[in-house]
Amino acid sequence: MSDRILVIGSGAREHTIGATLLAGRSVDEVFCAPGNPGMVLDGIRLADLNPADPAAVVDFVHRNTIDWVFVGPEQPLIDGLVDQLTAAGIPAFGPTKAAARIEGSKDFAKALMRRHGIPTAAYATFDNLESARQHVRAHGAPIVIKADGLAAGKGVTVALSLDQALEALEQIFVDRRFGQAGARVVIEEYMSGQECSLMCFVSGDRVWPMPLAQDHKPAHDGDKGPNTGGMGAYSPLPQFGPDLAATALETIVRPTVRAMVEEGTPFTGILYAGLMVTDQGPKVVEFNARMGDPETEVVLPLLTSDLAAGIRTLMDGGEPNFTWCQDRSEICVVLAADGYPGYPEKGARVPLIGPGKDLQAYYAGVAGSVQDGLTASSGRTAVVRAGAPDLRMAQERIYTLLDGLDTTGLFYRHDIGHKALETT
Ligand code: AMP
Ligand code: GLY
Repeated sequence: MSDRILVIGSGAREHTIGATLLAGRSVDEVFCAPGNPGMVLDGIRLADLNPADPAAVVDFVHRNTIDWVFVGPEQPLIDGLVDQLTAAGIPAFGPTKAAARIEGSKDFAKALMRRHGIPTAAYATFDNLESARQHVRAHGAPIVIKADGLAAGKGVTVALSLDQALEALEQIFVDRRFGQAGARVVIEEYMSGQECSLMCFVSGDRVWPMPLAQDHKPAHDGDKGPNTGGMGAYSPLPQFGPDLAATALETIVRPTVRAMVEEGTPFTGILYAGLMVTDQGPKVVEFNARMGDPETEVVLPLLTSDLAAGIRTLMDGGEPNFTWCQDRSEICVVLAADGYPGYPEKGARVPLIGPGKDLQAYYAGVAGSVQDGLTASSGRTAVVRAGAPDLRMAQERIYTLLDGLDTTGLFYRHDIGHKALETT
């Protein structure tokens, strides 16, 4: 078997997926659509096509004798690209449009969890300002306000005061800050605890977990500043014992995928459970229908088996064997353009790093070329990762590298991994 694979997406997550696929013996060639110019460092080929146009994807697959497609980001999944590829006879790894609603609609996900007793914050859904206001006044703060639908991770307000909660409602219903995504709002009970991400390969009711990871969403050190798409991550999580993943699998992931099978929308692909580790055990913050970004950049480097072979076996209904390095720690730090997440500035030089076993950059929002240099073209430009025997060493390795680079016009957090080091 020597697969030619098309990865849909353009970020550091897809760079990592592509590089990991290529590291396996069963893979001949990986194309990424549309990809980014930093990916060629790892031998990924760029496919110049619009992934939002299913006919263009099908055409590319046929012209380039692609064996199967890995759909990375949520938007094409939610738009039904997997359904369209399947209808065209092309094997595609990722959930159907119906199953991707677990990410695309918070209301769908919450209702599924309620029906099946899956631990998550209590919630209510509203489609008008007045009843939402009444609910918030009756419950008081802290309380969490979420715009239904996709709002690029920016539709959530953790309101610590009643005023803040009311203001968030006003922004959603009156200012229409999240457009159509804000036509409905989910209001949730506030959960306190440490967050972590559990990603699993899923095929129907069968589940293969990956190591736990932890993201850092606020823009600045000490978890200060606005929320972002993620500023860094690490895996595994030494502050939690093996029981946490086992409990989350038994109480959350398995019941969820069984529920989706029972309800006629079986899930195949990567299910991402965003968890809050509360005093009562892990509870769901959110589900995603894809790999996490930047969690992927620390989890996939721990994979010791052939990724493509595993996914192929899973898609064919077989029993894949995904194996993970047990004595290594991975960390990654996002290099963001100044101004991110508000109005990132374009044009800063983005350093070229790696590929290497212990240090490497996965690229995201970059323009230019590897020969002439890469420049920032959007908020998250590159995700730099380091691996070492433990987290402290990985942290030292990555910050020794980053602090020695010229990062003019870019910024990064200096404390990725701090929760693990504070609690162990
Ligand atoms: P989400 O987009 O649903 O993942 O929410 C974004 C962030 O808001 C999460 O990563 C949490 O930090 C926080 N958050 C969401 N829901 C809750 C909740 N019910 N209680 C406390 N924090 C929450
Ligand atoms: N790291 C959070 C996410 O991918 O949604």
